[in-house]
Amino acid sequence: MRIAALLLLFLLPLLLSANEVLFRFVQITDIHIGWEKDRGFYRSIPEQVNAMTGIEFVVLTGDIFDKPLDKADQSLIDEYKKFASAFKVPFYAIPGNHDISRGKKAAPEAARRFQELTGQLSTYRDCKGWRMIFFCELPLTKWCGSFDFYQPVDFLEKTLKESPGPSIIFLHVPPLDRGKDGDWSPESLTLWSSLIHKYDVKGVIGGHLHRDLLDWDGKIPLMASAPSVDKGGLLAVFRIYTVFKDGHISYTTVKISPPKNGE
Ligand SMILES: [Fe+2]
Repeated sequence: MRIAALLLLFLLPLLLSANEVLFRFVQITDIHIGWEKDRGFYRSIPEQVNAMTGIEFVVLTGDIFDKPLDKADQSLIDEYKKFASAFKVPFYAIPGNHDISRGKKAAPEAARRFQELTGQLSTYRDCKGWRMIFFCELPLTKWCGSFDFYQPVDFLEKTLKESPGPSIIFLHVPPLDRGKDGDWSPESLTLWSSLIHKYDVKGVIGGHLHRDLLDWDGKIPLMASAPSVDKGGLLAVFRIYTVFKDGHISYTTVKISPPKNGE
């Protein structure tokens, strides 16, 4: 009995520290600016997020615009800038297939426009010893061809290699095997999986599906959020993620209330 009590005394600090929160962040996805019917949903998010404490950053995981960016008029660009600048914490955005894919010929121009608007196609941020990688994976999917000014695999490999600790990768299209009509080819999926397993990747987070997803690539969780607008009947949500010191990631899904003015 005494040995058990001593053991518990010894293990208790370890057990408590295992579940200590390291940091939190918010994911928004698929707001489809330009699909006019439900903009009131995403417009209400900054106020809700700004009222929270302990959020390190916000990430918007693609499909920012409903039509490709090379087609977006200035009022939609202004709408995005107003939204992105409304958050008190750092804000990151990665492109979705709606933002830059309109046939393989037009995609590079839309990708350039995305770079102009946000500063980059892919980037990263270090957070409490972890690396958050905001990654444009689209050239690896069926949605667009390659761009001569952007090599996604080189970027990802270098960024993972130089990471000070564990990493989380944010992208738009979840790397899922969905058969021959899937977004990722079997070759791209193999390349992706071998790359993320070479490094300490703790999670992959995306959107695109317009529904919830939790899947696994070995021990690496693949999470996708439902959209942050209702798209004519879906549940509009954003997510708050918690990263724990023991390396686990959890999330809470927050329902966005329908806008009162019916927008
Ligand atoms: Fe979408």
